[in-house]
Amino acid sequence: MIFLGLASNYTARRTWHHAFALGNKKDYDSLEQELSRRYNANIDQLSLAFSGRSAIYLALESFIESGKMNKGDHVAINSFTCHAVLEAIERAGLEPVYVDLEKTISGQILPNYSADALEEIAKKDKKLKCFILQNTFGFAVDIRRFEKVKKNNNLLLLEDLAHCTGRKYPDGREIGTVGEATCLSFGKGKSIDTIIGGAVVLRDSSLKLPEEFDKNTLRHRKGGDVPRASWYPVFGAIARGLAHVYLDKPWLGLLLKLRWIERSADTKLLVDTSIAYWQARLALEQFNSLKNTALREFFLVDNRDACLKELRRHGYRLEESWYEVPVAPERYYKSVHFPEKQNPNAVFFAQHVINLPTWYHSNRKKKQVAKAKKIIKLHELKGGR
Ligand SMILES: Cc1ncc(COP(=O)(O)O)c(C=O)c1O
Repeated sequence: MIFLGLASNYTARRTWHHAFALGNKKDYDSLEQELSRRYNANIDQLSLAFSGRSAIYLALESFIESGKMNKGDHVAINSFTCHAVLEAIERAGLEPVYVDLEKTISGQILPNYSADALEEIAKKDKKLKCFILQNTFGFAVDIRRFEKVKKNNNLLLLEDLAHCTGRKYPDGREIGTVGEATCLSFGKGKSIDTIIGGAVVLRDSSLKLPEEFDKNTLRHRKGGDVPRASWYPVFGAIARGLAHVYLDKPWLGLLLKLRWIERSADTKLLVDTSIAYWQARLALEQFNSLKNTALREFFLVDNRDACLKELRRHGYRLEESWYEVPVAPERYYKSVHFPEKQNPNAVFFAQHVINLPTWYHSNRKKKQVAKAKKIIKLHELKGGR
């Protein structure tokens, strides 16, 4: 079977390695040094964090405390994103401004907003002080055009690397080496995956970590969090086995009930807690073997339910597409009051998108993915419309 979960590609050895990984302060410090080297920032201007959303919140707070933004200012975000991004913005007392996805001249909708769309908003919205680029699925934007808009409108850039750690912009620069702040998520299924975790990197020398955040007193995740973070790949492997007899859902339901796992979108935003040493060690190993590949491939299909049903009949479980609504997950969507009329491309994209994993390496699995692609192609919208 082919699944969308990243850990479905783990060998038994890797799953075991994740479950029993050990680490120490040296691993934690080495990961911070790697971030400092990679994103060209001072070690005292960066920190590992509890989650990606905690990292985004800390970066935004640092903009506010340094006087570069005020509470109530606006932050431009992709109109096809995760609720986590919104949570961080709102917690910082800022307001999100959705920018609709780009539609090319040939009518194809892309998973990111364009520099032109950002410029149009920046010209009218005097409260807009910052924009977040997330390079959805790892598909990089034309950063040079964004840099012009940034300069012309005096905007701050926060690069959100949840989908794109290790990827490059078309001009060859690594994503995360351009803006004032770079935020990473090590959440489940992300480019660096330790199930929960993240990092904030302030790249502008005039910024410092917010006052409420004290690197020296951070609690490290221990005991109580262990089942979820370290055993998740094992639980996932069992779920995939049970999927053959349609018992995966009750199994995951039981784990949720026992609070041994948590839905990814429900990861907490914490500023007094960091990742565990063993997670730092795993993250560092993954940094050292990062490949410049997109996180997921995407296609727009005519009737997603019909396509997923057909795929399921052939042994593909691709239901957990990013994202099924413009601000995912669906269970929070209503409460977000997403302005659908102003963002028609995002609404359309979220209704029709289907994802394929990019991380299968064995020839047998690659052939299976190629077969899935053939099925998807039969349902594909012509020209991405
Ligand atoms: C684009 C994007 N940014 C940030 C995050 C936040 O990640 P975390 O769950 O680690 O808070 C997510 C989570 O899915 C995401 O999709």
